[in-house]
Amino acid sequence: MLTRLSSHPKLLEYFSKVKDKSLRDLFASDPARGEKFSLQFESIFLDFSKNRIESEGFESLLALANEAGLKQKIKAMFLGTKINLSENRAVLHVALRNAAHESIVLGGVNIDEEISNVLTRMKNFSESLRNGEFTGFTGKKIKNVINIGIGGSDLGPVMAYEALKFYSDRELNIKFISNIDGTDFAETVRGLIPEETLFIVASKTFTTQETMTNAQTAKNWILHSVIPAEAGIQLTDGNTWLPERVGDDDKKNEIVAKHFIALSTNLEEVEKFGIKGENMFPFWDFVGGRYSLCSAIGLLLMIAIGYENFEEMLKGFHSVDAHFETAPLNENLPVIMGLISIWNNNYFNFSTQAIIPYDQYLLRLPAYLQQLIMESNGKSVTENGEPVDFQTSPIIWGEPGTNGQHAFFQLMHQGTKIVPADFIGFKETLNPIGDHHQKLMANYFAQTEALAFGKTAEELKAEGVEEKLIPHKVMPGNRPTNSILIDKLTPYSLGQLIALYEHSVFVQGVIWGIDSFDQWGVELGKILAKKILGEIEGESAEMKHDSSTNQLIKKFLE
Ligand code: F6P
Repeated sequence: MLTRLSSHPKLLEYFSKVKDKSLRDLFASDPARGEKFSLQFESIFLDFSKNRIESEGFESLLALANEAGLKQKIKAMFLGTKINLSENRAVLHVALRNAAHESIVLGGVNIDEEISNVLTRMKNFSESLRNGEFTGFTGKKIKNVINIGIGGSDLGPVMAYEALKFYSDRELNIKFISNIDGTDFAETVRGLIPEETLFIVASKTFTTQETMTNAQTAKNWILHSVIPAEAGIQLTDGNTWLPERVGDDDKKNEIVAKHFIALSTNLEEVEKFGIKGENMFPFWDFVGGRYSLCSAIGLLLMIAIGYENFEEMLKGFHSVDAHFETAPLNENLPVIMGLISIWNNNYFNFSTQAIIPYDQYLLRLPAYLQQLIMESNGKSVTENGEPVDFQTSPIIWGEPGTNGQHAFFQLMHQGTKIVPADFIGFKETLNPIGDHHQKLMANYFAQTEALAFGKTAEELKAEGVEEKLIPHKVMPGNRPTNSILIDKLTPYSLGQLIALYEHSVFVQGVIWGIDSFDQWGVELGKILAKKILGEIEGESAEMKHDSSTNQLIKKFLE
């Protein structure tokens, strides 16, 4: 782990030399640093020169990665070694986009074959839904497709659907329900006709409270609609919402089969819910929830953008997987992104990292990366259970530019906290209207320049700024950023972008020696919520919490 690696004291020593140098100094002393600290991979250009590091520090970071055994760890992941120690699982999301179809055999099973079988089923299903062959129970065309899921079973599909909306079938009404708050369900189905609606219940475990509650409500909504009457089922009680009042189980199952699809690893629970195996698209426990977009969890995305575009996205993921696996560390984009993040976090102690996409289509990218990065690397013990004595995951947050500029950029420019930020932009826009794109990108370039170089009191004075305003107008600069500049937002480049972040998370996890693939921290809250639900619903009599929690529950019940 980080502090036991011999490159760590070297980095500390280098840090003590560089910490007082500003980005202005660094660029002045090395006018070619822009070219030196940047890399092109296919259509992706990464410029990391606006970070406070020089060749000496960069070399030490690479040494740190070597010492942590990064190359061997990458190999182990790609070979299907059980690197998720606390859950005793392999980590093989890379196999989901193994376009070359090199055979990966895990526990005697050729998983490539299984993966491509599921992909073929997804292709057939999405095509039959898009061309109207697959209809609802009453024979009506499915117009609304709603993904019910949360966390990795929601954020990947919703982020990628928003990102690739340009490529989607605009005839389909694509929606997402994630929150257990009934408002999410009510507002999402508002105005929709059940006969024309398909629910995709996405849950790796098929036990997640939010998803199962929403799925059950969706089942009630479908079974309570006009459909049972068309099926000759008598509603015993007029307009009741209770599905158990709907007679004839077989008919109910037929209705469910035409309006519900499951995406899961848990066939038993799927069947218990009433969805038959043939309506389930499986995936596997070697695919973590937050790494599952390329699995069956991507079904709604495939329905929206079509199989060919989905396949393009997989190819984009694969290109970065192959780059990560084979490129030397000093030319390896995800390695560099991971190391720069470590540098800012563990040496400068900058505790957050902003993600600022200059593309409206990427509006859910920050939320997606919050789960990817913070659920993966928000850990306090190593993979062997020893407490760490250094910082792990930064806090990830962000908003698309230019909106963020008019909200929180004030703090980023002049606040007391320094926020390293990733600026993501595209050379070509998908919606060329007037000079919008030129203006958008002018802002993209201007912000990283202002963050890096700021404005001094002397410069302000020379401009004739009133003396008393000078302290308010000084821009300290010296704020680190990465610029990721991509040719165009396509399914392929989106896959590449996501894979860059996935692998950069891996790099950081390896250097910290933590398990980036478990998430035990989410369990306690789930257990307590179950217990409290019993109390709120009056099943368990006594409340044995602390005085604050007891009081809050009592107030709620008053
Ligand atoms: O609570 C966290 C979590 O387990 C995530 O890791 C996961 O993506 C999410 O819940 C949803 O889980 P599932 O897909 O099993 O419903």
